[in-house]
Amino acid sequence: MRPLPRQWQHPDRTRAFGRKAGRAIPQFTAWRTRNPFAAPRLGAQTVPVLIRRETPADAPAVRAVTAAAFAKPETPVPVEATLLDELRTCDGWLPELSFVALSGKDEVVGHVVCTRGHVGTAPALGLGPLSVHPDHQRRGVGLALVHTVLGAADALGEPFVALLGSPAYYGRYGFRTSTHYGITAPDPSWGEYFQVRTLTAHDPALRGVFTYAEPFERI
Ligand SMILES: CC(C)(COP(=O)(O)OP(=O)(O)OC[C@H]1O[C@@H](n2cnc3c(N)ncnc32)[C@H](O)[C@@H]1OP(=O)(O)O)[C@@H](O)C(=O)NCCC(=O)NCCS
Repeated sequence: MRPLPRQWQHPDRTRAFGRKAGRAIPQFTAWRTRNPFAAPRLGAQTVPVLIRRETPADAPAVRAVTAAAFAKPETPVPVEATLLDELRTCDGWLPELSFVALSGKDEVVGHVVCTRGHVGTAPALGLGPLSVHPDHQRRGVGLALVHTVLGAADALGEPFVALLGSPAYYGRYGFRTSTHYGITAPDPSWGEYFQVRTLTAHDPALRGVFTYAEPFERI
């Protein structure tokens, strides 16, 4: 067997392999923290997952995964589930940028979508919701979904993807604070949580206030 590329190797691989799925590996977590572009856990903690475009038949399962991922005791129907419903019927829905992650049992365990946003009249993309079912989190499913949707957006010639989210999580995908690129959040109080990932077609002259697809304005 060929050795793994060095950047994919855990510094203590023998300890990492063979652990139960879902259990934290302190050394590995610390290593990932120091290396934000590091690959996901390897061996026992990753699971086979298939990413493909969403079909109409997937919609109920996607909604259930979104609701489970964002569930909180005080909100039985998370706003993200309602947002997803409304995005599906708005002008900004882009079926080619809605992806599901399927488990080995062919169940939908994750979902990501980018919808049409703008800077002035120039088109761009807003990412979200991104959801992985709680029973399948921390196994690289989110990583596979985000890389897939970024690659698809790049192939479609989109200039950039914007989102509101944790810099600690999205930094690993190359997202940076939007103001670094002259893109302003719809709400400036979002600060460093509003991030942009530029794609191949990005033009640095594209600057201004980002507007999401209309349903985002109602949440
Ligand atoms: C965020 C989410 C999509 C990640 O999916 P996942 O399949 O668990 O992610 P991966 O296995 O690819 O990556 C897990 C890593 O992400 C980190 N992570 C997850 N959520 C994070 C957050 N909010 N902030 C920082 N890091 C986060 C984990 O700590 C883990 O890091 P590690 O590998 O260094 O230990 C998933 O946890 C989820 O659905 N959460 C609830 C909904 C949500 O918050 N969606 C994103 C809204 S912007």
